[in-house]
Amino acid sequence: MKTTLASRIISFVLRYLYAALSCVYVFVVGFLFSKNRILITKICTHFWHDNRSLEKRLSVIPKLELAKVLPEKISVQIPEPTSVDGEISFLETIVISELIKWYNPKNIFEIGTFNGRTTLSMAANCTEETKIYTLDLPKAKLNSTKLHIDSADKIYIDKENSGTKYLGTTYEDKISQLYGDSATFDFSPFYNKVDFIFIDGSHSYEYVLSDSEQALKLLRNKQGIIIWHDYALHGYGVIKALNELYLESKDFKDLKHICGTTFVCLGID
Ligand SMILES: C[S@@+](CC[C@H](N)C(=O)[O-])C[C@H]1O[C@@H](n2cnc3c(N)ncnc32)[C@H](O)[C@@H]1O
Repeated sequence: MKTTLASRIISFVLRYLYAALSCVYVFVVGFLFSKNRILITKICTHFWHDNRSLEKRLSVIPKLELAKVLPEKISVQIPEPTSVDGEISFLETIVISELIKWYNPKNIFEIGTFNGRTTLSMAANCTEETKIYTLDLPKAKLNSTKLHIDSADKIYIDKENSGTKYLGTTYEDKISQLYGDSATFDFSPFYNKVDFIFIDGSHSYEYVLSDSEQALKLLRNKQGIIIWHDYALHGYGVIKALNELYLESKDFKDLKHICGTTFVCLGID
C-alpha cells in the first residue's frame, strides 16, 4: 500500500516537472509553432468561465437549436460509434446522418476523407442510388499544396491510406475515393450536380475560403446543403473564414452554427 502511494507521488512529481518544463518551452519558444499556439488557446479556454470564453466572443454566426435542425426525430444507423482524434464527435455523426436520411441527397461530396468514418455514416444512411464522392490529400502531396496548410492539419494528412473505415464494408460500392489538393483539384465534372457537401479538409483560412467557393459551384441549382466542420477555437482558420463569408458575402448570409456541435450549415432554416 505504502509502495503504491509512494509510486503515485513520484509519478505525479515527474509529471509535474515535465509539464512545468514544457510550459517554459511553450511560452518561450514553442509558441512559434502553430500546434503550441493551439495548446495556449486550450489553456485559456480551460481557465475561462464558459460564458466569457473566447470561442463565444469569436462566433458571429447565428445559432440554430439542435431541436430545430430537423422537423421530426428520425432513426439512423451509426456503424462506427467511437471516434479518434481528427474525426467528428458522436453527436455530430448523429446530426449528419439524420440530415442525410431526411434530405435524401442524390450526390454527396466530402472534402477531407481521413479514415472515412463520416463517409461510412453517410453511406449507411443514404439510399442505394446515392453516390458519395470523397476527396483526400495524399501523404505524398503534403509539402506541395497550393495554399498554406496549418501544422495542426499535417498529422491527419500524414497517413498511409484514406477511407480505411469504409473499405471492405457493404457500403463501399456507394463511395468513390478521389485524391488531390482541394485547391487544385478539378471539381468541374461535379459542378451543379451535388446536393450535400461536407467540408472538413484543411482548416487554414485560405483553404476554407477556397473550399467554400468550390462548394457553391458544386451545389445543384444553388440549392442543397453545405456543412463545415470545426467552427471552433481549434479550427481558428474556419472561424475566421466563415465569419468573413457570413458578414461579407450574400451567398453565405444564411449560415447557421448548429448548437452543441462545431458544424456550420447552409441550406437549413
Ligand atoms: C480532419 S480530417 C477529416 C475527417 C473526416 N472528414 C471525418 O469526418 O472523419 C482532414 C482530412 O482532410 C485531408 N486534407 C487536408 N488538406 C487537404 C487538401 N488540401 N485537399 C484535400 N484533402 C485535404 C487530410 O488528408 C485529412 O484526411
